[in-house]
Amino acid sequence: MKLPIVCEQIEGPHPLGDSDRMNAFTSTLRNLGYNLENCATRLGSFPRLGVNFWDEMHPQWVPNPQDPVDALIALFIDEKPLPVDPLRTLTSTSFVDTACEMGVLQLQDGALHPKLSLFPIAGLYIVTDRKARNTAVNQVMWLWGESYLLAGLVNRAPRRRAIDLGTGSGVHALLASRHCQTVTAGDVSPRALEFGRFNAELNGRTNVEFRLSDLLNDIPGTTDLLITNVPYAPDSAAKAGDNFWSGGLDGWDLTKRVVAALPQRLEDGGVLHMNSLYPNDPGTTIRDHFDRWIDGGIGRYEVLDHTWAIPTYEDALSERPYEGDKSAWRFGVVSVRRAALGRGYWREQNKRGAFFRADGSCSVVADHDLLAP
Ligand SMILES: C[S@@+](CC[C@H](N)C(=O)[O-])C[C@H]1O[C@@H](n2cnc3c(N)ncnc32)[C@H](O)[C@@H]1O
Repeated sequence: MKLPIVCEQIEGPHPLGDSDRMNAFTSTLRNLGYNLENCATRLGSFPRLGVNFWDEMHPQWVPNPQDPVDALIALFIDEKPLPVDPLRTLTSTSFVDTACEMGVLQLQDGALHPKLSLFPIAGLYIVTDRKARNTAVNQVMWLWGESYLLAGLVNRAPRRRAIDLGTGSGVHALLASRHCQTVTAGDVSPRALEFGRFNAELNGRTNVEFRLSDLLNDIPGTTDLLITNVPYAPDSAAKAGDNFWSGGLDGWDLTKRVVAALPQRLEDGGVLHMNSLYPNDPGTTIRDHFDRWIDGGIGRYEVLDHTWAIPTYEDALSERPYEGDKSAWRFGVVSVRRAALGRGYWREQNKRGAFFRADGSCSVVADHDLLAP
């Protein structure tokens, strides 16, 4: 399935520099019940949260104009303009003014038009670019099912310093900021950093540093929590780093570099949670790749493999997607802990990819202590 394409210069969000107003805005969203559970009640859980397949996936949902959650979904996910007066009544005049001033909505001819998307996730609100593919800007990825999956699987134990690579909207960095002393969030896209900083301010998170960096190149130091969802699609039309999806010709350009950095950058006891497509050649496994890329091999690391087979993977974004044999492809999160004593394991945890409850939450956490053999 291909996404609709638009070509429009869209400005990023405008931070207000006024925490009281931004806080009042998110409090209104919270008080009206704009949360994952209420969205899942209306839309179903994953894969309906995979907004890349949005048009096919919510046929049952008929928005009720009197219902604030429906109105917020219509505006912020479904991208439907709404008349301003009823929305002022459902929310408040200051809510509407703040949304317009932040550049999330635009008032035109008595209607509010969505300029950006806004998703609820685990008590935070995340602004992203909209879900049509926009060829005029280097888009900041909306929250897909994979963003919710990675967010759910990350072990939320207290940590010293998280690094989030390919931060995009900043979603994983901001979630990490609640259980880590500090967080460094990196991206090669200045637009992504603009969104990340905005979302930090929107959610009142102050312990995240956003950095322009090609993976770890401009992020010095080590980490005890590395989170990544860097681009992974095999793509012969765009180089890795040009957008939020291309992982280069064979798809591995970025994942390979992250895994190869583990011996230098991941502390003893530290964990990497990596969401990715793993476009294995026929007859090969993810483990074969990790073994080759890590100096000394993957055998000294403890690995929980929450991936599932995806031989019919369809690329919704590339101009020239890979069309060859996908029989060994997998998708999901691989969680790697650096074991102090150097004796590791590789455990496949769930081969079907059924991780979501009916309320949209994730039923599994990648916890090496609980799941160790
Ligand atoms: C698939 S999106 C992930 C967004 C977000 N982390 C999430 O999970 O919802 C990948 C992000 O990686 C960024 N990226 C691409 N190449 C990169 C590189 N070489 N170093 C750092 N970030 C990169 C893209 O700009 C994009 O924001």
